Amino acid sequence: MSTDNDVIFQAARRRTFAIISHPDAGKTTLTEKFLLYAGAVQEAGAVKARSGGRASTSDWMDLERERGISISSTVLQFPYRGHVFNLLDTPGHRDFSEDTYRVLAAVDAVIMVLDVAKGIEAQTLKLFQVCRSRQLPVLTFFNKCDRPGRDPLELLDEVEQQIGLRPTPATWPVGLPGDFRGVIDRRTNEFIRFTRTARGGSTAPEEIVPFGRAEVEEGSAWTSALEGCLLLDAIGADVDIKTFLAGKTTPVFVGSALTNFGVRMLLDAVIDLAPPAMPRQDTSGIEQPLDSELSAFVFKIQANMNPRHRDLLAFARVCSGRFERGMDVTCARTGKNIGTKYATSAFGSDRTIIQDAFPGDIIGLINATGLKIGDTLYAAQPVEFPAVPRFAPEVYAIARPIDNSRVKQFRRGLAQLDEEGVVQVLRDPDVGDSNPILAAVGALQFEVLAHRLEHEFNSPTEISPLSYQAIRVTDSASADRLRQIGGVRILKRGDGALVALFENRYRLQRLEVDEPKLTLEHILADIQPGESIY
Ligand code: G4P
Repeated sequence: MSTDNDVIFQAARRRTFAIISHPDAGKTTLTEKFLLYAGAVQEAGAVKARSGGRASTSDWMDLERERGISISSTVLQFPYRGHVFNLLDTPGHRDFSEDTYRVLAAVDAVIMVLDVAKGIEAQTLKLFQVCRSRQLPVLTFFNKCDRPGRDPLELLDEVEQQIGLRPTPATWPVGLPGDFRGVIDRRTNEFIRFTRTARGGSTAPEEIVPFGRAEVEEGSAWTSALEGCLLLDAIGADVDIKTFLAGKTTPVFVGSALTNFGVRMLLDAVIDLAPPAMPRQDTSGIEQPLDSELSAFVFKIQANMNPRHRDLLAFARVCSGRFERGMDVTCARTGKNIGTKYATSAFGSDRTIIQDAFPGDIIGLINATGLKIGDTLYAAQPVEFPAVPRFAPEVYAIARPIDNSRVKQFRRGLAQLDEEGVVQVLRDPDVGDSNPILAAVGALQFEVLAHRLEHEFNSPTEISPLSYQAIRVTDSASADRLRQIGGVRILKRGDGALVALFENRYRLQRLEVDEPKLTLEHILADIQPGESIY
């Protein structure tokens, strides 16, 4: 067998990861610079233009065609140093979205980008609680060091205190933020000095400067950088691969995505530190060998990406085996066959049909109706992976069609958007379909829903917020008891589970103490209440 088709070899070359950050910390800029350093684009500028809305979608598609790379809202695949990078996008909007959680279920590592002037911001904090709960390895990038910011030592402390990951700087800045000249690589004990290029459009030249010369040329910036390194040595804050992979420490890189300083080192770290695609455990805890037949799981479903025709795309991460276009795969939940003739790798209107894929890769299955988030797909031996975690909703609302003659469209739209996971639709088992309650992690999800109901399903919808404070999964015996209690509402989720909504969090806590036999399960079991997204 040639190495091209050797699954173990291909899995070892894969790096599947996501960049997460608070909006404006520099995720888009960094993504673009990754492409620049990987040689996938010759000059920086195009990706950023897309984020700022300055390039039209068709420009964007043209860029994909020109460069022969697959850029999309979901996955970016590009080669670097003999490896294949799958960079999964996480939604950039200000509100917190469940979509990001699902993407985190499909990656093997994460890059956390912090603005050196701002440190940990609200959204980063929430995201990292999720990473930690999944024990995802996290690389940290202190971005925007080209302009004034906070003392990096202070930021290290903040990462440790707020996220609970022990930071281990791999590189340390020479020159404080605002006067940033280069980095000391603490792993090799080298000083690497950068040179700016015009608008950061091309890679930043790097020079290894001997310590003796650095002392003369960099003056006090050099002395304080060395002092910082000595302090880090003294507290033993060294990169440690074992604790990094276990999600306990985070190697820290400093730099500036804008000027390209430190970008190469971060990209190299994805290969040198982040894990390759590894065997995934099935529901009974048994690892599915990488070279067994194809298995994959669906982590995202998106409809109507192409305004010209209605369609549905299911994104699946390959866990084992070689995917070949056209092969028959089975959905473990339904036992049904799923056609893969139109599997894609690029997810724009100009999709690239893919021929094959390996563990770590993401495949897009067009019009694979009947699939749900969390479904396992397999080609031969039946296998089932654990469900993609559902996250506890934090906001609730009631939805009503504004135009009563469009009730049918409203219901069809809601069913579709529930399936995609845009929101969770909860129904009163006694009342049925009318005026369902919507549950979401962030209020923006409701706006997306209303927009899509109006524009895709022709059903303008009124959304009114409700003030429930907590949700628990229950069973029918407990539901009978809960119905007798004021301020509690029993509803049914799309997957058939009964849930109890509480108007008052304290009443729930009281109930948990007073009636311990009641079934009141948290929705996301692996995140501890109180420290997280509840
Ligand atoms: P995001 O995807 O995380 O939301 O952030 P994005 O990359 O869009 O960056 C947000 C802003 O921060 C942009 O400025 C970008 O140029 C700037 N930026 C990103 N990285 C750096 C850096 O290393 N140093 C400095 N100084 N700025 C950085 P903008 O004014 O909103 O857009 P633009 O007009 O500069 O494109």
